[in-house]
Amino acid sequence: MVHLTQAVFAGLVAWPTVISAAATDKKPWPQGVSLKSFIGTESKIALDGVLANIGPNGARVPGAGAGIVIASPTKENPNYFYTWTRDAALTYKTLVDEFLFGNKALQPYIEDYIHSQAVLQTVTNPSGKLLPSGAGLGEPKFNADGSRYNGNWGRPQRDGPALRAIALIEYANYLVKKGEKQRVREVIWPVIANDLNYAPQILCFLNSAFWSPTSSVGGGHLLGNINIGSPRSGIDANTILGPLAAFDINAPCDSPTFQPCHPKVLSTFKVLVDTFRNPSLYPINSGIPKSKGVALGRYPEDIYYTGNPWYLITLGAAELLYNAVARWEKQGYVSVDKTSEAFFKTIYPLARAGQTYRAWPLLNSLSPFSAILRAVENYADSFVGVVQKYTPSSGSLAEQFLKTAPGTPTSADNLTWSFAAFLSMNHRRERQVPTSWVPKSVSLPAQCEGTSFKGTYAPATGAGAPELNVTCQSTILFQVNASTYYGENIYLTGNSPDLGNWDLSQAIPMQSTNYTQERPLWFAKVPLTAGQNVEYAFVREQDCGQAWIWEDQTQANRTVSVPACVEGEEETVRGETDDAFRGKGGSSGGC
Ligand SMILES: *[C@@H]1O[C@H](CO)[C@@H](O)[C@H](O)[C@H]1NC(C)=O
Ligand SMILES: *[C@@H]1O[C@H](CO)[C@@H](O)[C@H](O)[C@H]1NC(C)=O
Ligand SMILES: *[C@@H]1O[C@H](CO)[C@@H](O)[C@H](O)[C@H]1NC(C)=O
Ligand SMILES: *[C@@H]1O[C@H](CO)[C@@H](O)[C@H](O)[C@H]1NC(C)=O
Ligand SMILES: *[C@@H]1O[C@H](CO)[C@@H](O)[C@H](O)[C@H]1NC(C)=O
Repeated sequence: MVHLTQAVFAGLVAWPTVISAAATDKKPWPQGVSLKSFIGTESKIALDGVLANIGPNGARVPGAGAGIVIASPTKENPNYFYTWTRDAALTYKTLVDEFLFGNKALQPYIEDYIHSQAVLQTVTNPSGKLLPSGAGLGEPKFNADGSRYNGNWGRPQRDGPALRAIALIEYANYLVKKGEKQRVREVIWPVIANDLNYAPQILCFLNSAFWSPTSSVGGGHLLGNINIGSPRSGIDANTILGPLAAFDINAPCDSPTFQPCHPKVLSTFKVLVDTFRNPSLYPINSGIPKSKGVALGRYPEDIYYTGNPWYLITLGAAELLYNAVARWEKQGYVSVDKTSEAFFKTIYPLARAGQTYRAWPLLNSLSPFSAILRAVENYADSFVGVVQKYTPSSGSLAEQFLKTAPGTPTSADNLTWSFAAFLSMNHRRERQVPTSWVPKSVSLPAQCEGTSFKGTYAPATGAGAPELNVTCQSTILFQVNASTYYGENIYLTGNSPDLGNWDLSQAIPMQSTNYTQERPLWFAKVPLTAGQNVEYAFVREQDCGQAWIWEDQTQANRTVSVPACVEGEEETVRGETDDAFRGKGGSSGGC
């Protein structure tokens, strides 16, 4: 299972790995406006906000390709003028919903997305290529015009393909129902098939490895990450955002697909929320009673922009609760067990493990069942109320708002995913639910596959992807000792197309995860066409926009011969180099 050892709560949502305040509008939303009126006004702003960030005509993102979702128009501190596969997929999942709920004007946007993603799947990037291994699908981000992003980044990130499949499957099913089966088979399915092949075994692993029975605030929770050797607690908002993407109103709460009303999800919800209730972590949450929503961030150890609350997570919390209520309404009962009891007691102190609260055939509004549903719904509304409190008067939603009063918006402004999260929250509040997808019975293998599963991949030419040539490749592990300062990076370049033909914009960013004082190691695993001799060199990328530093060019170039390949084992390392950077070190520009 090459894809899951460091997988995140998968299918589901991984955070970008960040290497390191731009939001401008600070005037708060007017006081005394009802939640309903706020939601009505903000929903329109949110839809406009999403569309303004999609190329080719989005008003805030000139230069973006057709169907390309830009994460945010903010270009500095931080620069989010890129497209992330994750953000784009979640945005389009919401747009497909919005289309299915009646906004027919969105169809051209969806068609542009399909085309753009078919092409993006084939763009060779620092995570790899589409062919033959599918490794390139794990690349988290691309430039606004759809070209490869060559900077240093946390890669690969495994959640993008699965989320994109979710968005496209819902649209494809709609077309099939309308009788357009053949178009789906020829145009959309090939895109989906690549993404599904990249994400096998997720359900099995989620059910076997991602649960912690205890936490620092009591109660069990789903783990945000495993096997990464990180000191983090694993309490992470991606475990409540994942179930939003998996929601199916026809699936029972105990489905292994982790529905919003699953006891483990509800317990996770409580652990996450209680973690952020801590006023020493988030001062703006101090004094809020336990039955009311609070501002939520990614994980308690977060230091990005000092680790603030995010709009999309606080909105996601509300959405999760609306989803759960919708399911309970539909099935006509709420079951409380040991795992979910603590969650229910937050909003309904009489709840007891082992009880099932059923809808009454008569005078149901007086039943404990109704009381629980109303309490959860009010709890959900209170999270939206938190967002209302920290939304500026223009309605623009940044990525974050400060954890200290007055909760000023910060980081990237007009974040597409924040707007999409608002729309999606509102759909669920209005009981507009996505198309059902969970099969009648879902069974898990007794044991998850322990070894890597190889998918098969092909360019989705029916949707406009270019034809690709497959060459049999062998992976070389390039290793170089190169002392660097914080902010400096090492790249690998060379005379083959796989190494960018000496063009630095196509060079391979190397990884420093094993760098130590004793061994300043930078490495990259690169599949290269078998049977050739390749010339290569290392280059320093200095900070602050200073010139790149090439290795000493007076000596003969380094060469490596690429051994014969074995079909199906392109990712196995078949050769390695052990080099030391030739020439002088860099110096920080001090910016
Ligand atoms: C975000 O939207 C607001 C309101 O329309 C606008 O004033 C601001 O300039 C936008 N920011 C960016 C970075 O586009
Ligand atoms: C594929 O290979 C053919 C024959 O070698 C070549 O002419 C063509 O340019 C290649 N196409 C791509 C996209 O590399
Ligand atoms: C980096 O370190 C990890 C963990 O010690 C090890 O498994 C891996 O082989 C190392 N990679 C390289 C390229 O040295
Ligand atoms: C070595 O690599 C450089 C590119 O850095 C290239 O211009 C040069 O021709 C190569 N030298 C030899 C002797 O092949
Ligand atoms: C790189 O550093 C390691 C550890 O100090 C050393 O064993 C190795 O020989 C070095 N490689 C080269 C080419 O200098």
